[in-house]
Amino acid sequence: TQHDIDLYYRTILDGIGTAGKLVREGFTATKQVTTKEGAADLLTEYDQRVEEILINRLRESFPTHKFIGEESTALGIKSSFTDDPTWIIDPIDGTTNFVHGFPFIAISVALAISKQVVLGIVYNPITDQLYSAIRGRGAFRNGQIIKCSGQKNLSLSQILGEYGPNRDPAILDTKCKILETIIGKVHSIRAMGSAALNLCLVAEGSCDAYFEYGVHIWDYAAGDLIAREAGAYTCDPSGAPLNLIDRRVLCAATKELAEQISPLLIQIDYPHD
Ligand code: IPD
Repeated sequence: TQHDIDLYYRTILDGIGTAGKLVREGFTATKQVTTKEGAADLLTEYDQRVEEILINRLRESFPTHKFIGEESTALGIKSSFTDDPTWIIDPIDGTTNFVHGFPFIAISVALAISKQVVLGIVYNPITDQLYSAIRGRGAFRNGQIIKCSGQKNLSLSQILGEYGPNRDPAILDTKCKILETIIGKVHSIRAMGSAALNLCLVAEGSCDAYFEYGVHIWDYAAGDLIAREAGAYTCDPSGAPLNLIDRRVLCAATKELAEQISPLLIQIDYPHD
């Protein structure tokens, strides 16, 4: 019920407040940086601690809920995406930015019920910008309603595209080819280093589209809802409906714009989350 959703929302906001303080502390502190799946896939002790804070806070209030967390998954605590109420958590989206002191990082949390995301929060603790959405109730930045740009014309667009942490030469080559094809057709391409915030940039209208291959469910579950609630159109980069476990996303201010971008992409497949 809406009453339950409001309680979930208040509880996670409380957890994000505590977690945000820790991320701000960590931002300027010396960190232990380790790697996960490759030399450019970074992890710090803060990622793990933030995830623990959020999961402990939620578990205390909602003991039957399930969790899919980036760092729990990295530790081998693999939970599959089921119909149960499931919190999908990226404690620090933009870990590379966090390591380098580039202030474009976010705590991203979504709640899915029957595999449908019903609430999403993306919080940048450094700039103190909080993006939020509850399904059917619009998207907000620090409490103010936001709307995407409504851009339909590719040649007038500012597009977000990421390289991602995978250093496989074939994958990098394909990603570079895609960006090479697109750059001549648009105003600009940006790579900000946080999938969750990229979706929020489309939601608020400061960018017109974003696509990425190789993202994980925790990178885009919350941002996807925020973008949709702000009027954006999100799909699989092929143009098919978005699937949150397929590790690929295309989000555009309009369906017309998504339809112009999709044919320019080269589809890359990943084993699903
Ligand atoms: C990463 C960021 C980045 C994207 C990568 C993600 P993380 O998330 O969202 O923008 O290009 O694909 O892995 O690892 O910092 O949580």
